[in-house]
Amino acid sequence: MMKQGSGLPGTPKAEFGLTRRNLLAGAAGFAGVAMAPGGIFSVARAADGFIEITAGPGQYKLYKEDAAASDLWLYNGGLPGPEIRVRRGERVKVRLINALEEGTSIHWHGVRIDNAMDGVSGLTQDPVPPGGTFEYDFVAPDAGTYWYHAHNKSWNQVGRGLYGPLIVEEEEPVFDRDHDLMLIMDDWRLNDDGRLDTESFGMLMDWAHGGRLGNWLTVNGKSNPSFSLKAGEPYRIRLVNASNARILELDPDSIGGQVIGYDGQVLTAAEQTTTEALVIGPAQRVDLLVVPETGRDLALVEVSTSQRFTFAEFKVSGEGKGNPPAQLPQANTIPSPDLANAKRVVLDMTGGAMGRMGPMRYKGRELTQDDIRATGQVWAFNGIANLDEEPLFDAARGETVLLETVNNTAWPHAIHLHGHHFRIVSADGSLGPWRDTFLIGREETVKVAFQADNPGKWLLHCHMLEHAAAGMTTWIRVT
Ligand code: C2O
Ligand code: CU
Repeated sequence: MMKQGSGLPGTPKAEFGLTRRNLLAGAAGFAGVAMAPGGIFSVARAADGFIEITAGPGQYKLYKEDAAASDLWLYNGGLPGPEIRVRRGERVKVRLINALEEGTSIHWHGVRIDNAMDGVSGLTQDPVPPGGTFEYDFVAPDAGTYWYHAHNKSWNQVGRGLYGPLIVEEEEPVFDRDHDLMLIMDDWRLNDDGRLDTESFGMLMDWAHGGRLGNWLTVNGKSNPSFSLKAGEPYRIRLVNASNARILELDPDSIGGQVIGYDGQVLTAAEQTTTEALVIGPAQRVDLLVVPETGRDLALVEVSTSQRFTFAEFKVSGEGKGNPPAQLPQANTIPSPDLANAKRVVLDMTGGAMGRMGPMRYKGRELTQDDIRATGQVWAFNGIANLDEEPLFDAARGETVLLETVNNTAWPHAIHLHGHHFRIVSADGSLGPWRDTFLIGREETVKVAFQADNPGKWLLHCHMLEHAAAGMTTWIRVT
């Protein structure tokens, strides 16, 4: 698999830390809020059993305690939104209440869900209008680490804070609540005063380049939070990248541990982290198994820029030598692709700055240079920008699809398929771990295979949300 994110010529690499003198101390000078693992969110249910989630504007401090608050859009006023936790096979019932001034919907990222509940404005439902409500009611078929986020103008709505954690526990969890940490990482573009830069939302410059990159990272909405861990005890650390566009690269030595899952799907055996970086693209998740050692504090350290940026700390107390649990959580059962009988589909990705831009169709007609500026459409899948009347392809239910993605652009991308998990097919034909979002480097080709077993209309898009809005969005139909 590729190593992404570094060394792209012309890639603007936003350095972390803000520019002004008072902000330069950055995370290092900031004593984070000490948080006990687990149990930091609570969720109230209405009398009819629905969890009520209101999307609305809110003031929130993204930077230090004495910095100004930002105007964000939040679920129930919090960042992230309320943690939803169910067991495998249970129902999730959420009533979305829209207190925004524009339409919205919630997508349950990575859940192999009923199509009608997928929450994609403009494909699976109409956006919920201001003042409106929508009831989501679905079964969570697979245990694992998921997240939910707004899916109407996501580049703006997710970029302003509309996301939250969704954890589906195994029937018999291997880690109890105190040893199960959900960490949602996000990348923000802050002004010199520490407030969210809202003026640069929608900048075509970002849309045509690497997306909206920030200059500050938070974990669960906090700047450099500190978690307490006990030496010798095994922890499951669930990492989610909620950034609009940043491919996070974490220093594996600073966090330690082994990978036990990707994108919600637990592995059959733990994997040693690479010596390079733990790469987590937008929307991707990595579950780690960490057994802290006596006297060795841990941290999340981002290393993709020229600067090492620490954005969460784990204080290890007590003494103890521990062993990892005898077994990993029980993996989900997902129907396997049948490569011998696969339908092969090629996805040609073009456009963007410094890339080849052939003729491009948008809403049924060819775009001229002027249209490109007017519509903001600068990327295309197979020559088509954004949703077309017709799907990229139809698959019969149960059919295996071999999707060959050819990145003819000068940028990396994070491609997400709704409603299904897939496996990356290596050159020798072997299948990688289950994922719902894959990274593809510039001029790279990546093949993924999945069994199209979930009927409906499913989005396939780049999860760099500016790229998705600027054309890198299509859909498939399973009949
Ligand atoms: Cu997490 Cu269509 O997205
Ligand atoms: Cu992209």
